[in-house]
Amino acid sequence: MRALLIVALAIPALADTGNAVCARCHAAIAKKYAATGMAQTSGRTGPSAFKEEFGHPNVTASYQLQIEGVTRQLEYFLGSGHIGRSYLFRKAGQLFQAPLSYYSAPKKWDTSPGYETKPYPELTRAVEPACLQCHASPSRPFVDSGVTCERCHGPGEKHAALPGKRNIVNPARLASEQRDSVCAQCHLTGAARIARAGRARGAFAPGEKLSDSIAVFIWDTPEGVEPTATSHFEKLNRSRCRQASGEKLWCGTCHEAHSDSTPAHYNQQCQACHTERKCTGSQSQNCIDCHMPKRAAARSVEHLAFTDHAIPRRPSPPSTQTATALKEFWTGQSNPRDTALAYAAANLDTAYPLLEETAKANPKDIPLLLQLAQYHERMNAEEKAEKLYAQILLADPTNTTAAVNLGTYKIRQGNAKEAMALWLQALARNPALISARLNLAVAQYQSGNATAAKASLKTVLDYEPAHPAALRMLAQLP
Ligand code: HEC
Ligand code: HEC
Ligand code: HEC
Ligand code: HEC
Ligand code: HEC
Ligand code: HEC
Ligand code: HEC
Repeated sequence: MRALLIVALAIPALADTGNAVCARCHAAIAKKYAATGMAQTSGRTGPSAFKEEFGHPNVTASYQLQIEGVTRQLEYFLGSGHIGRSYLFRKAGQLFQAPLSYYSAPKKWDTSPGYETKPYPELTRAVEPACLQCHASPSRPFVDSGVTCERCHGPGEKHAALPGKRNIVNPARLASEQRDSVCAQCHLTGAARIARAGRARGAFAPGEKLSDSIAVFIWDTPEGVEPTATSHFEKLNRSRCRQASGEKLWCGTCHEAHSDSTPAHYNQQCQACHTERKCTGSQSQNCIDCHMPKRAAARSVEHLAFTDHAIPRRPSPPSTQTATALKEFWTGQSNPRDTALAYAAANLDTAYPLLEETAKANPKDIPLLLQLAQYHERMNAEEKAEKLYAQILLADPTNTTAAVNLGTYKIRQGNAKEAMALWLQALARNPALISARLNLAVAQYQSGNATAAKASLKTVLDYEPAHPAALRMLAQLP
């Protein structure tokens, strides 16, 4: 139950910044950086250092997904291929995720994460803006590949015109929380990320505190979390090294900014601090072999392993706790509004009373009201849900989630005309809302317009050629 988000692919006119501009004066850094996973973590499919193996019956060597009688061109990828790649295709100006991904270790194409439970290959899952925020440049997706210089250094236009140490962010020179925020914008997911009231999700710019634009919540447990792709911050914060040396130790202590580090580099960094209190185990090997072992990732299908950034004395057994409480990273406490939204994002029933309480104090906060309305539905408080959806729509007529859901109440009350109007309004903004269009088809048929119903079902099948309900309904129509 989450708000539907659409990423329309409007490629802006090329502004005179981007990696190529930086490379004019920082050629050595640009060359070195280009070899990293981060630099290669997104782009256009086609010629690149990484090569998939083809051979899956649904994917051609020219990146065409041929499935259920339709073809979709896989135009863009996410992921360097170190672990694997996800793909995006475009239809009618909207970007969608492909139901198949490439997995590098077994060298095969297979169902994308999150698609396993679908009875048919879903082709209308809009790409989440968050994917692009971490893997691409959201302001100009795929114009530049990968994580660009400016994601860590901030806008460089002024600096390029007036070069020097001013007009550009050097993360290493920032105060600790601002410095850590540069990496945390992509490497700290936690259990929930909540955009602060009135701030957009991607509002962060290097030099700021991430916590000014986003509240990141983590599970509040004594043992901490199991490793995931983006748990490095949480883990490092639990290490004795970080706790005892404080803010001196950060991601940049061990990771070189523009290249992938080697074991020798890591050893050097360990030893730079551990001059007096030396290892009581063995020092003959690489420190990280014993103190930063790879551990299997939680909930991983592909047997991924991540490096344990808690730097333990001895490898610790995996956590067996189930956490139910959240706290904000960095501060440990948060305001009631962000806390309520975090519990809702973590899908906990305990969010309900928190949402009800804080909505009273924030009667114009659309993200909050939308979550509350969805919790009203979940808790069978249907009248309250309906009222709230109507209220949201009044305040924000562009809100498709509210329009679609309000429509379902109207149809149940026998008000087909209003329901259809709401669904058409939502579909004009997002034509790929499959269940709304199916509902519309039923309502059209029931109000005697079989021709319109047929057209709606055909549009559904244009987007989702194997949709079982649409196929069944179309076969039943005269
Ligand atoms: C026209 C040449 C030029 C261009 C283009 C340019 N830089 Fe620089 N940059 C410089 C010079 C000169 C310095 C200062 C070096 C010094 O004083 O040691 C510098 C310094 C820096 C520093 C160090 C700042 C510090 O506080 O240590 C960073 C980071 C940087 N540039 C990033 C970028 C990025 C990112 C881009 C692209 C958006 C870029 N530069 C484009 C010339 C350029
Ligand atoms: C909060 C930032 C963040 C978000 C949001 C995010 N990712 Fe990632 N993703 C990462 C990081 C960091 C890694 C690398 C983990 C590593 O190297 O161990 C990664 C790894 C991957 C990989 C494997 C890349 C490789 O190393 O080969 C793929 C594929 C991927 N992500 C796709 C996605 C897709 C699709 C979405 C949206 C549904 C998404 N990611 C959302 C940060 C993010
Ligand atoms: C993942 C974040 C990240 C990206 C992406 C990144 N940098 Fe940096 N950069 C850093 C950090 C961190 C430092 C500070 C390193 C230090 O001093 O410890 C730095 C330092 C610099 C410096 C000054 C110090 C030096 O090494 O000369 C320049 C210049 C620079 N970066 C340019 C670039 C350019 C050009 C790009 C794109 C090709 C780029 N950076 C991409 C994080 C990044
Ligand atoms: C804009 C998002 C973003 C920012 C900012 C960012 N990273 Fe990453 N980072 C990623 C993604 C995505 C990957 C996965 C790359 C891939 O596909 O293999 C990654 C991978 C890595 C890796 C694994 C090695 C590699 O190159 O694949 C390290 C180490 C890393 N990042 C360190 C850092 C550090 C240190 C900083 C801060 C100075 C930072 N990152 C900032 C998104 C980001
Ligand atoms: C910025 C300095 C710094 C760096 C870099 C650093 N450490 Fe530490 N580390 C510390 C401090 C301080 C302690 C706490 C010592 C104490 O308790 O007296 C510590 C504690 C430890 C402990 C004991 C942990 C425990 O639970 O008792 C181990 C093991 C360790 N470090 C290994 C490493 C390894 C391996 C590396 C490199 C990958 C490393 N450290 C890098 C500062 C650092
Ligand atoms: C004490 C040293 C140290 C610090 C500090 C550190 N890392 Fe690492 N990191 C490592 C080592 C060692 C590896 C494993 C490298 C390898 O296998 O080649 C690693 C691997 C990674 C990877 C690749 C995926 C994985 O889990 O193996 C990512 C992403 C990453 N680190 C991100 C971060 C971020 C973000 C921070 C800051 C919160 C950070 N690291 C701080 C030592 C460190
Ligand atoms: C072969 C595995 C192994 C390697 C390699 C290793 N260590 Fe250790 N280290 C251990 C074990 C085991 C302990 C814990 C001994 C104990 O609990 O008494 C330990 C303890 C430590 C401690 C805590 C010391 C104390 O006084 O409490 C530090 C610090 C440390 N190691 C740092 C390092 C550094 C730095 C390196 C690399 C130069 C390294 N270790 C390499 C196994 C190893």
